[in-house]
Amino acid sequence: MSRTSRCRVCNGTVTEFFDFGRQPLSDCFLAPGTAVEKEFYFRLATGVCGECSMVQLTEEVPREHMFHEDYPYHSSGSLYMRTHFENLAKRLLDRELTGDNPFVVEIGCNDGIMLRTLADAGIRHLGVEPSGGVADLAAAKGIRVRKSFFEESTATEILEAEGHADVIYAANTLCHIPYIGSVLSGVTRLLAPGGIFVFEDPYLLDITERTSFDQIYDEHFFFFTVQSVQYMAARHGLELVDVERLPVHGGEVRYTLAHQGARRPSPAVAELLAEEQKKKLSDMATLQRFGQNVVKVGQELTTLLRDLKDDGKRVVAYGATAKSSMITNFCGIGPELVEFVSDITPSKQGRLTPGTHIPVRPHEAFSDPYPDYALLFAWNHADEIMEKEQEFREAGGKWILYVPDVRVL
Ligand code: SAM
Ligand code: TMP
Ligand code: ZN
Repeated sequence: MSRTSRCRVCNGTVTEFFDFGRQPLSDCFLAPGTAVEKEFYFRLATGVCGECSMVQLTEEVPREHMFHEDYPYHSSGSLYMRTHFENLAKRLLDRELTGDNPFVVEIGCNDGIMLRTLADAGIRHLGVEPSGGVADLAAAKGIRVRKSFFEESTATEILEAEGHADVIYAANTLCHIPYIGSVLSGVTRLLAPGGIFVFEDPYLLDITERTSFDQIYDEHFFFFTVQSVQYMAARHGLELVDVERLPVHGGEVRYTLAHQGARRPSPAVAELLAEEQKKKLSDMATLQRFGQNVVKVGQELTTLLRDLKDDGKRVVAYGATAKSSMITNFCGIGPELVEFVSDITPSKQGRLTPGTHIPVRPHEAFSDPYPDYALLFAWNHADEIMEKEQEFREAGGKWILYVPDVRVL
């Protein structure tokens, strides 16, 4: 008998299709000497709702465990992502923020990677960000930030204080929020009659087709599709009016919602929905096949690392991503296989990776001296990283990748 849970969107029955086992908090990097018993563990498993087709985790981690003063993810670490969000902000300025004194709210603004362009353009804005450390970084850039979780009550307070928002935006944040019904009720209330709610998150189709299973971890609660987002929007009087596939973070979709009937949906919505249906994206058989691919990739990666170890090769990892916490714990990859992880984020350096306790070292350690192999945990930033690490290749170094399959470059 499959395990079931209740859908966080429609209260339907969610049937589990893959169990990733016991996992720690993916962004909880331990200071050396921390008592290991203090690490928080939960069971990471994915299921699909038989009613609304939403793919989701079957267990929820309390939000305060993940998003707090020391939340270590700094969005602005990637030059490529800075350009991505600058382009989005410019597009909003050209197309949406052209009226009298427009107002933008960003849910999960992190260190201000997107809002800084709008703030510099003098646009009235507010970032809502519960993680105090990154919110302070945004404030230091001149961005107005409210340190709280966005939910229905937050939206009501913002509406009373500042009026309707012309644009509400969230990147890599909506999929983090299990209490999504409260968020959407808030969005519906706060959004101006002609306004748009835009959000972008990893796309289930990219995850299943590329076996990018490390996108599945505590913080990523939902795995959206056009079908599930359309259903969810309609429950809150909203309508999906545009979709756009994005190459960032291994494949995402940018969804645009408006009040029902306020905007004419673009043909892209029906086109992508048809592709999902043709590929039977949310069918149990498709999702179970994905599960089989996960096991295969995991085994191949572990075998490769063990073989390299037996051959006396030095393997170092690149990018202490939340994604890699999931994959190292799932595959049992620890310091005996990977010497350390190089990462540019100061708040991760000098710490140990969650659960598997691989040391995280600053970028300078990567070339001192170069390892034989670099396991690219930050594979979603591959172009940017490989371009800046050409000397590693010239010195004879090789990259190990595992999305969409395990290979050495
Ligand atoms: N938008 C940035 C980006 O795309 O790089 C940051 C994404 S980061 C992965 C997710 C952010 O969402 C974190 O900074 C976290 O603190 C924030 N967050 C989590 N729950 C939230 C909520 N209910 N309201 C607002 N922000 C939230
Ligand atoms: P992300 O995949 O969740 O965006 O995380 C990327 C991680 O990789 C983050 O901890 C920063 C790190 N990183 C580097 O160490 N060097 C780099 O050049 C880039 C782009 C990221
Ligand atoms: Zn459902």
